[in-house]
Amino acid sequence: MYAIGSILKELREEKDIALQTVRDASGIDMAQLSKIENGHRLPTAEQIKSLSEIYGCDIKQLMIQRESDKILNNIEYPDLAAESLKAAENKIRYGERYLSLFQEYIYPNPIELKSRRYIGNKAKLAEWIMDKITANAPDAHTFCDLFAGTGVISDCAMTKYSGIIINDLLYSNNVIYKAFFEKGDWNKEKLYDIISTYNSLDAELLTDNYFSANFGGKFYEYNISKIIGYIRQDIEDIRPELTEKEYNILLATLIYNIDKLANTVGHFDAYIKKDIKYRPLRLRLIDARSYDNVEIYREDANKLSRKIESDVVYIDPPYNSRQYCRFYHLYETLIKWDMPQLYGVALKPAPENMSSYCTSKALTAFEDLVSNLRTKYIAVSYNNTYNSKSNSSENKIRLTDLKRILEMCGDTEMYEHSHSFFNTGKTEFENHKELLFITKVDDEKRNKSFSSLLRWR
Ligand SMILES: C[S@@+](CC[C@H](N)C(=O)[O-])C[C@H]1O[C@@H](n2cnc3c(N)ncnc32)[C@H](O)[C@@H]1O
Repeated sequence: MYAIGSILKELREEKDIALQTVRDASGIDMAQLSKIENGHRLPTAEQIKSLSEIYGCDIKQLMIQRESDKILNNIEYPDLAAESLKAAENKIRYGERYLSLFQEYIYPNPIELKSRRYIGNKAKLAEWIMDKITANAPDAHTFCDLFAGTGVISDCAMTKYSGIIINDLLYSNNVIYKAFFEKGDWNKEKLYDIISTYNSLDAELLTDNYFSANFGGKFYEYNISKIIGYIRQDIEDIRPELTEKEYNILLATLIYNIDKLANTVGHFDAYIKKDIKYRPLRLRLIDARSYDNVEIYREDANKLSRKIESDVVYIDPPYNSRQYCRFYHLYETLIKWDMPQLYGVALKPAPENMSSYCTSKALTAFEDLVSNLRTKYIAVSYNNTYNSKSNSSENKIRLTDLKRILEMCGDTEMYEHSHSFFNTGKTEFENHKELLFITKVDDEKRNKSFSSLLRWR
């Protein structure tokens, strides 16, 4: 039923005009006219025009009635009508800015920790890994993720253990752990306000900055890079007004949201050499939480192993020559914000935090690590990429060596999971397997086995 029918009928009756007169003046036949007045038929714009002339009323008002009838007639779920109309109103009012300003309605859930692109992340295997660890280490209360990367394994362990240690060499990962896990206070409304200001930035009005001057048109579309650089500086400028947790949440939110806009295949070793299509940056808050039982470090795993103690230590180091600090240099630069001089086509800063696990020292480093850990169980992830055709993907630690060293620490179980994994397309890996070793540490055996070995530094 269309309400405009009753309106037209009232107008006609008020003017005391017979239906036949309207028919003769408008050319609309009687059957159609009565359907229109009964609300069974929507008049066309042409018909509205002639009816408004006959009744001497404002055509615009009649057209508004007609449009609103059309909208209402298309609503399939009356329960949602009022809110849908409000949303439609906002879409008209805010146009392109609508998505930025109303995103908390569109995405009611904050961004999850596991949604980040990161080479070698165990997001798809996390449940499997944790199941195996808990089954093999039923008496463990504390857990350490020494090479935590994205932190997805720590995330799974968070509610299962009374104490968690999370460590990684990278500054950007460290900020992310603090944002997602560290105990601290933050005001969600305040952060919403800040990011909605960022979401309404107009790049054309911003000046060039360190980020856009270096990465614009390469790793990010130029206007987007201006916005990223502006936001990063602003987070620094407003730092005195933020709690430490809020500061880390804003930085992690920036990384998570720009991750999807990067002109790369998932890391910053290179950018794609073609024009970058503009896609707007719409920040959404990350899923920040606060845990009492978390310790967060940014240290070399071998050095940290001498200071900490944990029932389970999970080890997932890099196994090839690809340094994570080089792959994710752009996030390191963004987080440190020390505006270093950048080198080469990929615009990397001077090397820092290089890992011995990516070099010929990997095996020695691994031996040193497992021989020094104060733990009851050692869990190690390993993937068999050493068969690959590319040198940079070749494993620095061979499977036989890894097994031998773990056996020196205690009885070791090996589990296997086939898994499709990240590669940039150049390398073919056949029968790729993800392996998980779990060693029940026998201190006596370990001490004897390693007593003759040279210790790492
Ligand atoms: C294979 S990734 C770990 C992936 C992680 N399990 C996940 O699910 O995201 C290896 C990580 O070890 C870190 N790393 C490399 N060498 C390290 C070292 N010597 N000490 C601490 N962290 C190191 C890298 O920064 C990288 O994040």
